[in-house]
Amino acid sequence: MNDFKNKVAVITGGNSGIGYATAKQLKEQGATVIITGRRKEAIAKAASDLGVTSIVADQSNIGDIENLALKVKDDFGKVDILFINAGIAGLGKIEQATEALFDSIMNVNFKGAYFTLSKFIPILKDDASVVFLSSNTASMPGPGSSIYSSSKTALNSVMRSAALELAPRKIRVNSVSPGPTETEVMNKVGLDKETIKTIMDVVVDKIPLQQMGTSEDVAKMVAYLSSDASKFITGADFIMDGGMVLA
Ligand SMILES: NC(=O)c1ccc[n+]([C@@H]2O[C@H](COP(=O)([O-])OP(=O)(O)OC[C@H]3O[C@@H](n4cnc5c(N)ncnc54)[C@H](OP(=O)(O)O)[C@@H]3O)[C@@H](O)[C@H]2O)c1
Repeated sequence: MNDFKNKVAVITGGNSGIGYATAKQLKEQGATVIITGRRKEAIAKAASDLGVTSIVADQSNIGDIENLALKVKDDFGKVDILFINAGIAGLGKIEQATEALFDSIMNVNFKGAYFTLSKFIPILKDDASVVFLSSNTASMPGPGSSIYSSSKTALNSVMRSAALELAPRKIRVNSVSPGPTETEVMNKVGLDKETIKTIMDVVVDKIPLQQMGTSEDVAKMVAYLSSDASKFITGADFIMDGGMVLA
């Protein structure tokens, strides 16, 4: 259990899955937590369930990101923990790729994450912790996931540059790269439940530990990377996938 009393944490995309689980853990460990999301009702309900603050912001929209940073600064001052988590999945072979699919994934997962960091840097406390939510697909791209895995590989590259740029302020920047994790993400890619189950059965078979990860597993890692226990860790990517990248 970490002591995040008097720490301000901002989590993008906090109304479900990994963002929600992390908001819960950081709040339980004493942090003042702000979650963001695009859907006003969903984010307000999540915030009320968790006892945290919600701010509506589309992380793929630069204006929204700027407004978010301003509002956080006005209402909470400086930020100790920034968890850049909002992201979407999307599948498709390169030959059939559309510009719309490319832009929708890149605009949230890469451009949005990049500018969230960029606009928050001025209001990060010295010695703050930034964590990007990447993916094990950044290290093991597969057929059908070229856009998604590229968005996460790009994020890992930004993470390493940011770790160097922000080190003089003792701000640490790391990424967490889960493998298949039980959340809402796959239900949002437009496939029916039967197809998702078939895909998941195939996926689990490829994981040496023969199970999916949970949002709570990832939340614990984010809490660790946001705590003093990890004060010498920066510029590192933590793959959490039951050994999938090795298989
Ligand atoms: N689950 C996995 O297997 C897995 C594996 C590796 C990496 N990841 C990554 O983990 C992160 C969290 O995903 P999850 O699995 O927890 O899925 P999730 O339950 O779908 O959560 C994603 C969250 O991001 C929000 N979001 C999406 N686009 C947004 C935008 N433009 N602006 C603001 N919020 C936005 C969603 O809000 P809405 O519901 O309103 O869209 C939701 O709260 C993503 O970056 C994903 O790529 C997931």
